[in-house]
This record gives sequence, structure tokens and C-alpha cells, in this order.
Amino acid sequence: MIEQTFLEKAKAYLELCYLELNKEDLLEARLLAVQNLIIETGTYELLDFELEYGTKVAWRNSNKCIGRLFWRSMEVLDKRSLETADQVFAALFEHIDFATNGGNIRSTITVFNPSNKIRLWNPQLLGFAGYLSEDGSIIGDSKNLEFTQKCIELGWEPKIGQFDILPLVVKIGEDAPVLKEIPKEIVCLVQLEHPSIEAFKSVNLQWYSTPIISNMTLEIGGIEFLSAPFNGWYMGTEIGARNLADEDRYNLLPTVAKLMGLDIRDKNSLWKDRALVELNQSVLYSFRKAAVKIIDHHSASKQFMQFMRQEAKEGRDVTADWAWIVPPTSGSTTKVFHTEMQNSVVSPNYFYQENPWD
Ligand code: ARG
Repeated sequence: MIEQTFLEKAKAYLELCYLELNKEDLLEARLLAVQNLIIETGTYELLDFELEYGTKVAWRNSNKCIGRLFWRSMEVLDKRSLETADQVFAALFEHIDFATNGGNIRSTITVFNPSNKIRLWNPQLLGFAGYLSEDGSIIGDSKNLEFTQKCIELGWEPKIGQFDILPLVVKIGEDAPVLKEIPKEIVCLVQLEHPSIEAFKSVNLQWYSTPIISNMTLEIGGIEFLSAPFNGWYMGTEIGARNLADEDRYNLLPTVAKLMGLDIRDKNSLWKDRALVELNQSVLYSFRKAAVKIIDHHSASKQFMQFMRQEAKEGRDVTADWAWIVPPTSGSTTKVFHTEMQNSVVSPNYFYQENPWD
């Protein structure tokens, strides 16, 4: 594919946006204005409604996301006027609080101005620290080892617990990165228990309510927003079948199997599979009990199939990454497993970025 120029990207998005929003009558004048701006200043700014719609279409185009049925319902916090680290921290706290909404999670994105050179160092606004002990073992979330180390270098006091909420780190332009603890009152943690296995409680497992990705670039019409944290609500398996279960994450299946009384030496006993089911049930049960919005993978799969039908009806092709859409447990019991998918990348979208400290 030939690389599109900035101007071509701007045009392509504006055409899509104005067409889908029935604003064709305004398109020609807007294209001309944007073209002139790009020629004169090298860039342009999105109008409020162009930004808002772009964040939603970027979600619609996110091939790895099973939750896209609700793409129109993104809440957009437009923070493009903010400049200082203190303002940014306040906006991030606002995002955590607004999105968490006392458990009734709202899909939300906060957009900062790319020209203000704001970088967020957290991979997610909420996350657990990971520490490497002297003996090589890991305490906490191994996913965050490197970022935790950065926080410590910046003066954060490590707590060496399994579930320590990391501080926020913000860097503006050439200034040194600044670190701030998240106020406890806005962090919602769910303690895991199991509807029938009493011993579950005693392991003291927990997870946070709201997954707010803060290390991806939002691209709309050629403009790249490097700082645009966004969130949905959890699908249970993200926590129960990956974060807490992966061997290179919390690796808790042996622990769970043992408290279920399973023989973990016999592969034929399917102890991993059984432990997985109970761990996932405990995640769904505990979130529901705590009144924190969460979805199970069967309902999510159904919703994704509805999204595919809905898009077809509107005359659009759905692009999707099968390996990500199919849930990590019980794949073949879900409709998405038996569905062919086209994994090509379209714009607007959310893209991976390099670690900001590299
Ligand atoms: N898988 C990531 C996690 O476990 C979160 C990714 C976004 N998930 C979502 N439901 N919107 O933290």
C-alpha cells in the first residue's frame, strides 16, 4: 500500500466523518480550509465534533476489541487546552473517577493536545507495581516491572506488595517527568471471592475496576494524539484467564488448584482447566457482588456478532483480529470462534507506541 500524505489522511477522515454525520454540505469548505492550514502551518486542528466522532470510529476500527458494539457511546473529555503537569494530573484523576462512576463504568477517553508535548508514562492509568526480588522471583505484576523501576528512580517509595497501585507519571516537553500518587478515594479495587469455594477469600486476590489504556496513539485524519487515555469495562477473562493466570503474570493456577484439592502433578486431571474456570467464575462473581460493571466472554461474543451484523447493515466491512477476538477460554463455545475475520488496519485507529522513556 502506498503511504498516504498528511493531507490525504486529513481528507480521507473528513470525508468519512462528514458523510457519516450527514454534513456533506459543509465538507467542501472544510476541506479547503484544512488544505490551506496544512500548506501554511503544516498542520490543522480537529473541530470538536470531528474529534469526538474520530475517537469513536477509532474504537469501531480496533481489530483486537470484542466490545465494539458500543462504539457510539464513548464519552469524550476534550482536554486539548491543558498545558501544565498539574492540570494533566487533575484531568487524569477526573478520568479515573468519571469512568469508574461508582462501578457503573463509562467508556471514556481524555484527549490532550499533541502540540503541548504531554507524555503519560503509565501503560494504564491504574496498574499494579511489579518488583524483582534478589532471588529472581517477582512480586506483583511482572507486566509493570520496567515502569515500576522508573517510578522508583523518580522517587516513588516501593511498597513491595502484590497489589500496589502505581503512581501517575507525566512528562511535559523537555521537563523532567513528574510523579503523583492517585488519591485512594478514586481507586476502586475488587476483592475476589468465590460463590462456593470458601478458601478463595484467604488468598487475598484483587483487581482494579477500570482498565484505562494510556500508552496508545489515537490517530485521526493524520493527527497523532500520543496522550489519549481511554477505557471500557473488563471482560472477565482478561483478569481471570490472563492477568492472574498467565505464567509470566500472576501465575495463580497452581495456587487455585491446590485450594480446590486437585492433583497438580497429573496433567490428565486437567487441573489447570478446572482452576481456570473457578478463577474466572470468582472474577465475575466478585465484580457483580461489588456492583462493578463486567462482562462474561459468552455475552461479549454475542455482542460482537451483533456488532458485525449491525456494521453489515450499515454497509461497512468489519476488520478484526481473530486471535484477539476469540476469548482465551472456552473459545469453541463462542460464535466468534466459528467466524472468519479480515485483519486489515483502517484509520482512525489506536496504535501501539514505543515506551516513552526509551
Ligand atoms: N487486557 C487489559 C487488562 O487486563 C485491558 C485491555 C482493555 N480492556 C477492556 N476491557 N477495555 O488490563
